[in-house]
Amino acid sequence: MPHDIKDPALAPKGRDRTEWAAQSMPVLASIAERFKRERPLDGLTIGACLHVTTETANLMTALQAGGATVSLCASNPLSTQDDVAAHLAVDHGVSMFAVRGEDNERYYEHIRAILDEGPSITLDDGADLVSTIHTEKQELIPKLLGSMEETTTGVIRLRAMERDGELKVPVIAVNDADTKHMFDNRYGTGQSTIDGIIRATNALLAGATLVVAGYGWCGRGLAHRARGLGASVVVTEVDALKGLEATMDGFRVMPMDEAAPLGDIFVTLTGDIHVLTGRHFEAMKDGAIVANSGHFDVEIDKEALRALSTDVRTPRDSVETFVLAGGKRINLLGEGRLINLAAAEGHPAAVMDMSFANQALCCEHLAGLPERLPVGVHAVPEDIDHGVARLKLESMGVGIDTLTPEQVEYLASWKVGT
Ligand code: ADE
Repeated sequence: MPHDIKDPALAPKGRDRTEWAAQSMPVLASIAERFKRERPLDGLTIGACLHVTTETANLMTALQAGGATVSLCASNPLSTQDDVAAHLAVDHGVSMFAVRGEDNERYYEHIRAILDEGPSITLDDGADLVSTIHTEKQELIPKLLGSMEETTTGVIRLRAMERDGELKVPVIAVNDADTKHMFDNRYGTGQSTIDGIIRATNALLAGATLVVAGYGWCGRGLAHRARGLGASVVVTEVDALKGLEATMDGFRVMPMDEAAPLGDIFVTLTGDIHVLTGRHFEAMKDGAIVANSGHFDVEIDKEALRALSTDVRTPRDSVETFVLAGGKRINLLGEGRLINLAAAEGHPAAVMDMSFANQALCCEHLAGLPERLPVGVHAVPEDIDHGVARLKLESMGVGIDTLTPEQVEYLASWKVGT
């Protein structure tokens, strides 16, 4: 199998860690078991551009169990776990293209290598495969059954392509499934962002002022978990509804210009550009910690930080200390890339279980359709979304009630009132 990985000798470590993650992915395991019997993906080539983690490895082997030939590249230059890449290449024959720390050129060489395999389905986390197909590999468009998108930023990009009339393939917005964003984005990002900050800095959150930029699902998750650890949480927003929600959830809400001098730790999770820029760095306290948990490394204006600095030091892995004129220090984590994957291991397996169950079931859905979905951005079918919730509850040993016939009838009728 063609591959570009750091070191095949890392495979045993990747295998052990992937098996460890599998213990917390019972829904995906049950799908893989069924796939093994039914082979719904026989004959398909699936190309994936996802964070190369132990959880992704379990998704890749589930797709193989369904009969697919799979190839995988990284969806971020800093998120690859090299042992996992080795495990997939060596033990499972996955065409594997990912090396932690790869530069932009190699990152796109890897994207092209996946497209050279001629995929009939693609899986994206950030829409880089789909956008490269549209700009460089349009010959793939007619045979592409569809693409799945894992993250909010990717869905926003794809909707922009659709709005501009540029999207030429069907896409399923896996991110928008309830069993994805209500859990992965909220609990996964919430916990793993804190995990990344703590691993990088060993900072104490109790008593610290932590500024959360963006109160979407990820920001909500982070704000609540940081409060649980004793941080005093400030939220910044541009959306009135979300600002109101954060206020009524008990957080202090204010513009970033007011938050900048107050914060000890800043985290951006907005999906937008230059949320923290020069005037904010100038207003921050000495020793402020700045991290990003949004998909792209554009939320923190690194150029502005560099331009203000007279010196840059690297006191720890994943920490760059920028020394501003006058001596103030601003600590940037993980090069401004998503801190939960740059300095930690990403979301825990127990939550990726649901996200990747949706991915696997959407692959089966695309493969089983009598004809290709129309071009556009589609929702995950409701039966898949609810089915994942049911399987997850079952795996947790949690039972729920069933409506009685009388209750079903009551809900369907409009005649019974006061
Ligand atoms: N995105 C966030 N966390 C992840 C993980 N553990 N694996 C794959 N993609 C992720």
